[in-house]
Amino acid sequence: MGEGLLTGPFPRVGGELRCGSHRIADLAERFGTPLYVYDMDRVRERVDRFQRAFAGVDHLVAYSVKANGNLTLLRRLGALGCGADITSRGELFRALRAGIDPGRILFAGVGKSELEIREALDAGIYAFNVESAGELERIDAVATSLGVRAPFALRVNPDILSPTPHEYTATGHAESKFGVPLTEALRLYRWASGRRHLEVRGIDVHIGSQIIDPEPYFRALSGILDIVADLGREGIGLEFLDIGGGFGISYDAGPEMDVETLAREVVPTVRKAGLRLVLEPGRSVVGDAGILVTRVHYVKRGGKTFVIVDGGMSELIRPSHYGGFHAIERVDDRAPRPTEVVDVVGPICETGDFLARDRALELPETGELLAVRAVGAYGFAMASNYNGRLRPAECLIEGERISLVRRRETLEDLIRGEDLPETAS
Ligand SMILES: Cc1ncc(COP(=O)(O)O)c(C=O)c1O
Repeated sequence: MGEGLLTGPFPRVGGELRCGSHRIADLAERFGTPLYVYDMDRVRERVDRFQRAFAGVDHLVAYSVKANGNLTLLRRLGALGCGADITSRGELFRALRAGIDPGRILFAGVGKSELEIREALDAGIYAFNVESAGELERIDAVATSLGVRAPFALRVNPDILSPTPHEYTATGHAESKFGVPLTEALRLYRWASGRRHLEVRGIDVHIGSQIIDPEPYFRALSGILDIVADLGREGIGLEFLDIGGGFGISYDAGPEMDVETLAREVVPTVRKAGLRLVLEPGRSVVGDAGILVTRVHYVKRGGKTFVIVDGGMSELIRPSHYGGFHAIERVDDRAPRPTEVVDVVGPICETGDFLARDRALELPETGELLAVRAVGAYGFAMASNYNGRLRPAECLIEGERISLVRRRETLEDLIRGEDLPETAS
């Protein structure tokens, strides 16, 4: 595989993959495989890039917890000044436990329960990003019963079909379940502005994920600024504008979202509107800061050549769920091997259990380590116990420091919470 990335995360030095100064092979030896390895220095760089690009306007980077909710990672992000974009009481619990300031938490999602709304109000979150009239009424009812005011933004659906790599990651078009139509937004804001227990605080849009082109953001921004102006004329003022996340990264050496280009247009526009800017990046903060290290069990030849490894769709579901591409390479490529076109598959009893299909790869030997790149986002976060699998360990590298930030699950973890009642007679 040659020298690989020299300046990005996980460089190859003398044929051996590293995280910072640490050999990946040593980490695999120490913690076992499959293993997630995160480069915290890379995460810091990514946050810093957002902070600098948007410095010209009052802004909040509300990291999207769904991408990777590891507690230590969240704690570090909180210390860097990030807030959190959450989608459930579970993510609220994580964010608070990690020490993220509740005044920097935004709660998204189409199906918030009464319990979730109550807990978020108790915590004092910055805002609910509301996705329907029914939800707004429910928030009003819960806030009224608690005698508090609930700050909210409407997530508007601008009906923009943005070019995402998979239909499942497009969220800004009329047929998606997300947001309220632009035409309905004004009516809901008017209604809410007359309710004692609702506080109109912002407006929100999230058009999809893994978007490389800034142009759909500009279009979405222009649509919502029209609403902001209409509201202003009616005396309904807003504090913030949330342009969501979805900023694309490079999975295959192709381009990524140019955050600076995005900021060049967004910063003056939002500043001119007198609003605070909220961003909800997930993948673009942690995506390329993580690899999955997996060991080759067998090389099996049949109609195709299968490299069977110890990590599969239970550790990383993006390839089978979204058709996601992840670069895969030998951790140690000092001894060259012939290149073959192979499927890299896991041990799960599903044909859809693969990490790569028809991929040209230096054919590894049994027992060798492979690294799957750019899995820091939607990797561990989507891991499961399917097929009785133990979810893997996660380790975090910060300079010289190596921390096991989540231990590998045990067999007892697998049956936690289950009961064995006697057979009914
Ligand atoms: C509302 C919302 N905000 C932010 C994100 C984060 O997206 P990404 O990780 O692509 O930045 C998502 C992803 O699904 C989302 O639904």
